[in-house]
Formats: sequence, C-alpha cells, structure tokens
Amino acid sequence: MAGFGFVGWLRLFVVVGWSFLLLTGCSVNPSVGKTLRVANEPAFPPFEFLGSEGKSQGFSIDLMNAIAQAANFKVDFQSVPFDGIIPALQAKTVDAAISSMTITEERAKTVSFSRPYFKAGLAIAVRTDNQEITNFDSLKNKRIAVQIGTTGAKKAQGIPGAQIRSFDSAPIALQELANGNVDAVINDAPVTLYAISTGNLKGLKVVEQLLTEEYYGIATPKNSVNLALINDGLNRVLSNGTYSQIYQKWFKADPPNLPAKSPFENQSGAGESGIFTSVGIILRSFPALLQGALVTLQLTVLSVVLGLVGGSLIGIIRLSRTKSVRWVARAYVDFFRGTPLLVQIFMIYFGLPAIAQELGFTFSFNPLAAGVLALSLNSAAYIAEIVRAGIQSIEPGQAEASQSLGLSSVQTMRYVIFPQAFRRMIPPLGNEFISLLKDTSLVAIIGFQELFRKGQLIVADNYRAFEIYAAVAVVYLCLTLLSSQAFSRLEAWMNPVKRS
Ligand code: ARG
Repeated sequence: MAGFGFVGWLRLFVVVGWSFLLLTGCSVNPSVGKTLRVANEPAFPPFEFLGSEGKSQGFSIDLMNAIAQAANFKVDFQSVPFDGIIPALQAKTVDAAISSMTITEERAKTVSFSRPYFKAGLAIAVRTDNQEITNFDSLKNKRIAVQIGTTGAKKAQGIPGAQIRSFDSAPIALQELANGNVDAVINDAPVTLYAISTGNLKGLKVVEQLLTEEYYGIATPKNSVNLALINDGLNRVLSNGTYSQIYQKWFKADPPNLPAKSPFENQSGAGESGIFTSVGIILRSFPALLQGALVTLQLTVLSVVLGLVGGSLIGIIRLSRTKSVRWVARAYVDFFRGTPLLVQIFMIYFGLPAIAQELGFTFSFNPLAAGVLALSLNSAAYIAEIVRAGIQSIEPGQAEASQSLGLSSVQTMRYVIFPQAFRRMIPPLGNEFISLLKDTSLVAIIGFQELFRKGQLIVADNYRAFEIYAAVAVVYLCLTLLSSQAFSRLEAWMNPVKRS
C-alpha cells in the first residue's frame, strides 16, 4: 500500500461516508419538503392501479398527492405486495402505506392508522348463472377465492367447510371466478363493483353487498412522527373540498361522512419480542409448514417423474438423424428453457381456460394438474439436455461394438448405452430435482398452498415475517439436504465398483 498514506485513507473514508449518506437518503433539513416513501399494491382499481403508461393512479394516489401538497411533503410511491405492507412498515422500509387497508383491531396493534379516509365493506361475487349462492350463509362448503392477507380472507376463514384459495391480488381472484375455478370471491365491494361495471370481467354479479362496514386508513409504523403530518394533510383535504372532488372523479357520487378518528387508536399488545417469543412463534407454525412441505414434495415428485419421461423422449429425439424432428425437440427445449417458469404457469393456468372460453366451451383447471403440468413441461426441457449429454458421453465405439455383436439399435440403447449414461446423469438430475423442489414455490401464485404459501398465510396472520420465513427456509433446506443425500445413495448404488 505504498503511496496511499494517511491523507489518502482519510479522503477515501470521507468519500465512502458521503456516498453512504446519499444512498441512504438522509436529507440535511428534515422538515422542509421531506419525502415519505409510501407503499401501495397497485392492483386494486379504482383505488390504486397502474395506468396504461405504467404510472400509479387511482383514488388513493390522487388523495395521497393532495394530502402531501396540503401538508407540504413529497411522496415516493413504492409498490409492495399487499401481504408485505405491514412487514415493510414494521421494518420501516417505508414510511407509510395507502393501499385500501381496512383499519382493524389486530392491525392497529402492529401499525398506526390515520383517521379513516374511505368507507367500504366486503361483497360476495359469483358468476351470473349461479342461483345457489344468494348470501353469506350459502357459502358453506363452497370454493372461495380471496386475496391473501385481506379482511375478505379473514371473513372466509369463518365459513364452515369452505375451500379457500388465496391469491396475491384481487384481480386474479376475480379472474378465477370468471374462469369457473371457484364459486365465489369475497373482496372489497367498490373494487368488485368497479371490475364488473368497467366490463373488464364478464359474467359476474354481486350477491351480497356490504357484508361488513370497513374504514380504510393510511398506515404508518407504530408511533411514527409522520402520522400527525398525514392526519393534518388529510384534515385539510377533507375540509377544503379537495376530498369531495377526488371522490366525485372516481365514484361519480358525493362522499359519505367519515369519523374523525381511527376506530382503534392507541392499541398495543403485539410486538412482544425476545428469543422465547420467536421460538414459540416458529414452533407453533411448524404443523402448518409441514403440511405445506408435504404438498411441495408431492408436486416435486410428480413433476420430476413426468419430466423424466418427457425429458428422456425429447433428449433422445434431439439425437435423431432426421433434421426436422431434431428441430422440433430443439424448439421445445429453447421455449421452455428460455421463458420464465412463472410466465408458463400463468399461460397454462389462466391462459388456457380463457382461450377455451373464447372458443365457446368451459374448461377449468384443477390447480394441482396445472401446477404439475407447468413444472413437468419445464423440467422436461432441462432433463432433455441432461439425457442428451449423458448419451453423447458414451464413446461411439461401444455402439459400434454392440451392433457388430448383432444387437439392434433399440437394444443397443436399452442394454448398452442407457444404463451407463444414466449413471452419469444422476448428479445433474439431482441438481434438477433440487431446483424443481425450490421452483414449486412459484405455483403458490395459482392459489396452491405449498410450503411457501403456507408461510405467507401465517405471516398474513401474525405479521412475524422474519421468524416465519426463516422457518420456511429451514424446512426447504431440510428437504433439499434429504434429497441430495438420496441422490448420493442412488449414485453409490448404481456404481458397480462401490456397490460390491
Ligand atoms: N380492505 C381490504 C383489507 O384491508 C383489502 C385491501 C386490499 N388492498 C389492495 N391494495 N390490494 O384487507
């Protein structure tokens, strides 16, 4: 380090220190025009959604901008999944959230709420041809779609015998209903009604409106200094007529009167911490996580078996002597390897039934079938390459030798090439199994309650993101370690030298 003396180090220190301050966004004067990071989940029209140019818009966005202007601060909207908003507030990665969040007693124990800014309630939606479901009580033993972590999801939990499917966003839950995969959706009335009235979803109706009375509030971390600022802005906007204007713009009606205070102020109780509470929380979550782990294993094994069959075929086809046949197999591999698995899951689960409907027949997918189909089509592409590499790694001399002994080419493959190739394929197949096991978490998106989704559901209930996701990670790790053990054994067992 010659030539880089004390002054050099000092300079480096100052530069690094300043860049760090700038990166973390510390402003020099905190009171004038400070910027609040405000979370929302922009998939809840007409409250918050992405417009055609990809900019957030909606009632909440207009309202928040008006509040900011009235109280003299700036807003930096950040899009966060709905079930991640309370954890983000707890972690203080955002300063506030405006996301049509109902002020509930439970939530008020973990975060603080502004005064109510909107009056809403839950509604039940069904398909127009459904005569059976007419009210809340007729939802017994039905298949119900909800958005994860919402008051609608909570309400659904109380229905006896109901089969609840939870989705990441309300539009997906409604799409599920339109596709005929569930019987009803419980969701915020204004959002469901808006989706129906804009004609974006066809063939749906609302059977019970305002099942509950709910007030939306702007949430901040507990005891945040910004809460007073937000309430101040909201008061001004409510009294100077701006609120009515925004309400008129989005709902073409006059706003109802709103209470002046959050119904659950100064709640406390949650937020116990300490190693014992954490361990207790993790232990309590284990039975549910293990249930999820079983589903994950089931998905993985089914998909790997099907993927192995499909992949072997495609791998062998890729070695065909006919160019056009080779080309088809190549195109398959390129497509399934070259597009995200998530997109493939969506295409299969939401796309196929939609196309079927367009063509005039109803066809609905069982999520297990759709999940296994997507995962095995995808893994077949990777397995095909493993199979091809394995076969090609066997010296051509062996095929020549067995053919000169009079074996047909199928027999050569069956008795000479494949058994040896398979042994070489085991390590990469082990890799593929483990990636597939982890990739199964992606099918949570179609309402599948595998390990990851189980964890998400628990967090949506107790807001203990760190403990629960750590427990989820540990369970995945156990599963992958066990599988890699199993593959090592298989490898040893297949090795004639080691076996003897
Ligand atoms: N009001 C309901 C709740 O608080 C649903 C809110 C969902 N919001 C959203 N942006 N997706 O649970």
